[in-house]
Formats: sequence, structure tokens, C-alpha cells
Amino acid sequence: RMPILEQCYNLMDFEAVARKVMKKTAWAYYSSAADDEITLRENHSAFHKIWFRPRVLVDVEHVDMSTSMLGTKVDIPFYVTATALGKLGHSEGEVILTRGAKKHNVIQMVPTLASCSFDEIMDAADDQVQWLQLYVNKDREVTKRIVQHAEKRGCKGLFITVDAPQLGRREKDMRSKFSDVGSSVQSTSGSAVDRSQGAARAISSFIDPSLSWKDIAWFQSITKMPILLKGVQCVEDVIRAVEVGVQGVVLSNHGGRQLDTARSGIEVLAEVMPVLRARGWQNRLEVYIDGGVRRATDIIKAMCLGATGVGIGRPFLYAMSAYGLPGVDHAMQLLKDEMEMNMRLIGASKISDLNPSMVDTRALSSH
Ligand code: FNR
Repeated sequence: RMPILEQCYNLMDFEAVARKVMKKTAWAYYSSAADDEITLRENHSAFHKIWFRPRVLVDVEHVDMSTSMLGTKVDIPFYVTATALGKLGHSEGEVILTRGAKKHNVIQMVPTLASCSFDEIMDAADDQVQWLQLYVNKDREVTKRIVQHAEKRGCKGLFITVDAPQLGRREKDMRSKFSDVGSSVQSTSGSAVDRSQGAARAISSFIDPSLSWKDIAWFQSITKMPILLKGVQCVEDVIRAVEVGVQGVVLSNHGGRQLDTARSGIEVLAEVMPVLRARGWQNRLEVYIDGGVRRATDIIKAMCLGATGVGIGRPFLYAMSAYGLPGVDHAMQLLKDEMEMNMRLIGASKISDLNPSMVDTRALSSH
């Protein structure tokens, strides 16, 4: 009764299948978001407030969707963002995402709280470019070990998550009374977890809520990897990020899982880029967004507004959970096919053709 893979025509289709076939606790952890899940819904619907202003009579016989992220050339401007607990959805865990990313020549951001060990993920595909998502441990020696090990293994970027001094209340997840999978977390913290509060709360106990701007210099002293802040949500903090000398930001609300009624990444991008351009700072850092990216048109809108790339989370988790590697492969191929077609239809033969005049953002509140 499960639809065959070829019946998934877009990324939303994977979600519908995953909802039916996944274990309840796993579905609750992956799909849940904070409080009333208003930000979760807004993340995708915000893209619908942006309209295209396509150009006609452009030669689009050949479309090149490749671009560069932190010096790595990729086939298409998305990366697999960090999502914890891959083994909830598939017995092999995150290495499935690694192999999918390798096949499509895109980057994977490896979560601190992966089910597979960092080395298993690094070994899952030769020469696959990886970034590390970092939750900063109260014990800075643990953090230093994680960072320096990643760098030694060839990791190409350090993304410090800054929107989670405490994990949000995800009620769907709490109700499912996470109990059966805690042991599959690679506990880098070593601390015991309280499993009565849902998966998210069970794994959050070691995150340091005292982390602040003052700490960034310390990270710069322990690694040569480019440092980016994941979870920045307003232009004031982007300016601060430039001032402390990090290489980039991810405008993100953690997939709606942290502060509910926070704005979407695409909305914040529309606020941030004009200010950076006015200061002549648009090349001082790379600006990524994530949250709610489900269509290639969403990717194109972000690129028009000046993003370096976008992260995609849940759709690949759902594809992996429902169909394993063939599912992830198919989901990525669907995005590539959509992207090629929509680049043609908007009148862009390469990523650098995409610019703010190709979108009408008047319906966004931050316009
Ligand atoms: C996440 N996200 C996340 N972020 C992070 O910095 N560290 C983490 O451990 C996790 N874990 C995690 C688990 C699951 C199940 C989800 C869905 C998300 C947030 C993630 O990196 C990203 O910001 C969002 O997932 C992007 O939104 P979409 O693409 O899921 O809508």
C-alpha cells in the first residue's frame, strides 16, 4: 500500500508517505516544532509572499545551477542541513544522507547530535565535503575536542548553533514520551538524559546557555575552519557577526523548533541584504537561510535576494525514513529537475543571473 518512489513528484509527497510509515515517536520528533507551530508553517508560506518578475528572450538552452559555498563548488545551491537523531528514521542513520549528498555533489552539515559517529559519517563517502554543526557544551574541553577532531578529518566549516540556549517546547514530541531510542544518540556529553520530556529535551541537557558574543574569539583561536553562526534572526545580529569577524550566518529559526512566531529565514534575508549592500558589506560574509525550503522556486527566490545557498532539513529526513538512499537520491533529483526548469522560466542561465529585480517582495512585511 506504500506508494512506490516514482509516485513522489515533489518534496511534500515524501512527508505524506513518512507520516504513514514512520514510527510514531520518530515522526513526532522530526515533524514537531515549538508551541503552536506558527513559525513552522510560516517558514514555507513566507515564500508564497514573493512573486517572480521573470525575464523573457534570454538564451536558456544551457542552464548551469552550480555555485560555490565556502570555497566548495556544488551542483545546486542547497545543502543538507544538520538534523539530530538520524537513526530514528532509518537504521543506518545519517550516512544515508551523506551518500545522497555525495551522489548529487552537495554539502552535508553534520550535527553534533548525530546517531552515527562523526567518523562513520566522514567515512561514508570518499571526498564528500562536510560542515560541522556545533552545540556548545558547558565543558569547553569537550567542545574543543569535537571541533579539532572535525578539522583534522577535513571538515570545511564550523556552524555554531546560536538559537538554542535551551531547546524549545515541542509538545507533539513531548506527548510521544520518547523512550526507546535515547541509547542511539552518540552522547558526546556523557551526561545522563531525562527521557520523560520527549526526544528534544532529553538530549538538550548539556547545551551551554551562557554562550555569548565574547566567546567567538575563543572559537577563532581553536580552529582555522571558517566559522558561521546558525540561527541569526535580525540585521542587528548580522552586523555584529561581521564585526566579530565570522565568515557567515545562517538566517534560521531552527525549522520552527525554537522561538515560536519568530520570522522566517527568507523574510529576514529580505531585511538583511539591502542593509549589507548599503554598507558595501555584501561580500564580507556568506549568508545562508534555512526553513521551509520545499521547491526549487524557494531556492531561486533566496538566491535572487542574495543568499549564498539554502539548507534543507525535514524533506531529506522523510525521504530517508520512507525509502532509504533511493528516496534521498530521488528527492535531490526532483529538486535539480525543478531548478533547471524554473531557471529557464525565470530567464536565468546561471546562478549569478539571479538578482533582486527578479522578485517582487512587496507582500513581505520587512519590505
Ligand atoms: C533540526 N535542526 C537542528 N539544528 C541544529 O543546529 N542542530 C540540531 O541538532 C538540529 N536537529 C534537528 C532535528 C530535526 C528533526 C529537525 C527537523 C531540525 C534544525 C535544522 O538544522 C534546520 O534549521 C531546519 O530543519 C530547517 O527547516 P526545514 O528544512 O526542516 O523546514
